[in-house]
Amino acid sequence: MSQQDQVKWDKKYTENDKLLGFREASPLLKQFLTSVQGSKALDIACGTGRNTLYLAQNGFEVDALDISAVALQELTQHMQKVTDLAFIHTQLVDLDSYTPPLSTYDMIIQTNFLDRRLIPLLAQALTKNGILIIETYMIDPENEKKGSNETYLLKAGELPTYFDEHYEILFYDEFWNQGENYRMRKQGIVVKRLS
Ligand SMILES: C[S@@+](CC[C@H](N)C(=O)[O-])C[C@H]1O[C@@H](n2cnc3c(N)ncnc32)[C@H](O)[C@@H]1O
Repeated sequence: MSQQDQVKWDKKYTENDKLLGFREASPLLKQFLTSVQGSKALDIACGTGRNTLYLAQNGFEVDALDISAVALQELTQHMQKVTDLAFIHTQLVDLDSYTPPLSTYDMIIQTNFLDRRLIPLLAQALTKNGILIIETYMIDPENEKKGSNETYLLKAGELPTYFDEHYEILFYDEFWNQGENYRMRKQGIVVKRLS
């Protein structure tokens, strides 16, 4: 476990009430949920679980992974209030060294988190016809939050480059975020595994 990441994120969640409060699920998830066949889902870097809870409330069984024990504890408290505990499996995981199982998930979502090593592995973790959604921040001179480590920011046009002819890109766009603390440019992609 990367202790540094764990300490950093636990501290962020403990010190910032806003991060722990209710937040809407990703609009891309809401838009494409009905395109998913099957009910097994993976939420990568789930945080306090806005996407996990939405998936569980819509009939998915979700593996929810994050390095922050504080965030996962908050998710557990939310889920006890709003959904059936049995459908969410939280796991304290360091994604720096995580490999998802092959051909397992009908839906995978990763929002506001970037680990380039993981993207091809997530694509392989989809079942046939499975859907992967990635939505996160990109480099832009007009981003309000300055000084972000560019390792964690996408370059223009980057997300589609990870997918070959075995995947269909159902949606790709670059856009300004909505309803977050800082105005930031983002990329979103929705990909379907064809074979
Ligand atoms: C900005 S939050 C995004 C949370 C959620 N996906 C969302 O969109 O609301 C980034 C999350 O990544 C998690 N994270 C950062 N580094 C990680 C790592 N190495 N392994 C697992 N999770 C990590 C943090 O704990 C945090 O919950």
